[in-house]
Amino acid sequence: MRNFVYFSGTARTSGNFDVNNLMKSGRMDIVVHFIINTFFLSHNLRDDVKLHLIFYGPPDPPKHIEIQIKPDTEISKKDVANLIKKILYKYKPNQKIEAHPGCYVEKKSLLKLIDELLEEEKEIFILEKDGKPLRDTKIPEDSVFIIGDHLGLPKKELKRLRGVSSKISAGPVVYFASQIVTILNNELDIRGL
Ligand SMILES: C[S@@+](CC[C@H](N)C(=O)[O-])C[C@H]1O[C@@H](n2cnc3c(N)ncnc32)[C@H](O)[C@@H]1O
Repeated sequence: MRNFVYFSGTARTSGNFDVNNLMKSGRMDIVVHFIINTFFLSHNLRDDVKLHLIFYGPPDPPKHIEIQIKPDTEISKKDVANLIKKILYKYKPNQKIEAHPGCYVEKKSLLKLIDELLEEEKEIFILEKDGKPLRDTKIPEDSVFIIGDHLGLPKKELKRLRGVSSKISAGPVVYFASQIVTILNNELDIRGL
């Protein structure tokens, strides 16, 4: 299992956003691209990835959405934005709700999630342009990869994360977050992880 964490400092934290104007919904367009590149293959869906989305936008941050494709998970590439909307609408305080098969929502911060993943003894990698080359990095099974949004990762979180993770780079240019997930999926596919 591979684990991706996408942090968005702006994505809306309730379902009342306009699916026809995703750029104005705290860059929910990036979230949609990220989900598509995490799970969709030609004529297939990846069931070997757990995706953690952490949203810090208004009106009720933080929100943690967890997605893992199960045999009964219905997900269409054309309708990812409506799926996020539905998941956020189903949120209930003080609970982890299964809002859709394989899709959960709860209130949780980025650092709390990372603490839990560390307790599970997972190796954490943070994606940054000036990190060690991905290709030269030993990656254990079940590793966690943290990717920032269009503004990068917030300073306070970054400081703590750097103490518990290894910084890896996908190359010398700045990619879209959704391109980074494609690069990671490809590298892990080649390594059979
Ligand atoms: C569009 S970039 C963020 C750009 C932002 N202005 C910054 O400087 O962090 C989105 C995310 O993709 C990842 N990323 C982009 N290019 C990368 C690279 N060459 N190597 C590793 N990660 C990269 C980082 O996690 C980054 O937070």
